[in-house]
Amino acid sequence: MSRLRHAAAFAWVLASVLALAACSGSTEALDSHGSESRHIAGLWWLMFGLAAAVYVVVAGFIVLAAVRGRRGKPAGSRISPSMFIIVGGLVVPTLILLVLAVVTVTTTNALRKPSDDALRIEVTGERWWWDVRYPGRQIVTANELHVPVGQPIEIGLVSDNVIHSFWVPELAGKVDTIPGQRNVLRFTAEKPGTYLGVCAEFCGIQHAHMGFRVIAQSPGAFERWATAAATPPLQPDSEQTAQGQVLFQRLPCAGCHTVRGTEARGKVGPDLTDFTTRATIGAGAAENTPKNLARWIREAQSIKPGSLMPDLTLSDDDVAALVSYLQSLN
Ligand code: CUA
Repeated sequence: MSRLRHAAAFAWVLASVLALAACSGSTEALDSHGSESRHIAGLWWLMFGLAAAVYVVVAGFIVLAAVRGRRGKPAGSRISPSMFIIVGGLVVPTLILLVLAVVTVTTTNALRKPSDDALRIEVTGERWWWDVRYPGRQIVTANELHVPVGQPIEIGLVSDNVIHSFWVPELAGKVDTIPGQRNVLRFTAEKPGTYLGVCAEFCGIQHAHMGFRVIAQSPGAFERWATAAATPPLQPDSEQTAQGQVLFQRLPCAGCHTVRGTEARGKVGPDLTDFTTRATIGAGAAENTPKNLARWIREAQSIKPGSLMPDLTLSDDDVAALVSYLQSLN
């Protein structure tokens, strides 16, 4: 009877393990497309392999003991109990921890290695979006980082408010943005693509709406983007767009946002100079479409409660003009 019960317990554990393995969920951090994430994934697999081996051995002993039960006299063993404890409880764990320590230190060193030809990007964690600047290139944008494939990237991370954490699982590990301290994240994107990033440190009511994108491009495409991004937008080419620009500068908009080449020089909200090139509004709170933009201008608080963007009470014509103007910024 007891044997049957043990067998049933074992079957239940096995079924649970298999069920867990089936619901694999997101493995993005292990789907690496960057040098740094590859190192981290390698370390993860090593730790997983060692932990799995230890688990299998220990579980094997438990199953063996359960199946054998207490019947009969214990069979004589060539390994004495004290030897068993010294090897299994001391030597093997020490070796495993030693291997992990050495590999962790070498991996950390590889992640921190500075490069002379790195492209520098300065990122500030705001509540709740990311300010992105390319020193020496006159590029200021938000929530989207363009990087050339194959070139080492060095991201300086700071915050002027609370602690955030910058994480693009497929490219690199997470690094916190800490007020009063500049941390550095280094990686090289190995494959063109758009990689999603998140804020990985709870930072307040809109922590979940603090997403960003890293757009890895061929060096040529990156240079084309950089040239366009450094160029101030063209003057409005329609009456409605021109009216939108006047409104933008007269209304509170210009007090918070910058549009390079115009009177709008606010520093509180994201720089909107290349607004149309961005995929989302409010750091991932809504897709960047004219309809969502109109709603954002009118009732940002219903889309992103707690954000610094106030609801503006405006006529339909004014909203349409502002949308038209913002849609012309690229
Ligand atoms: Cu910023 Cu969480």
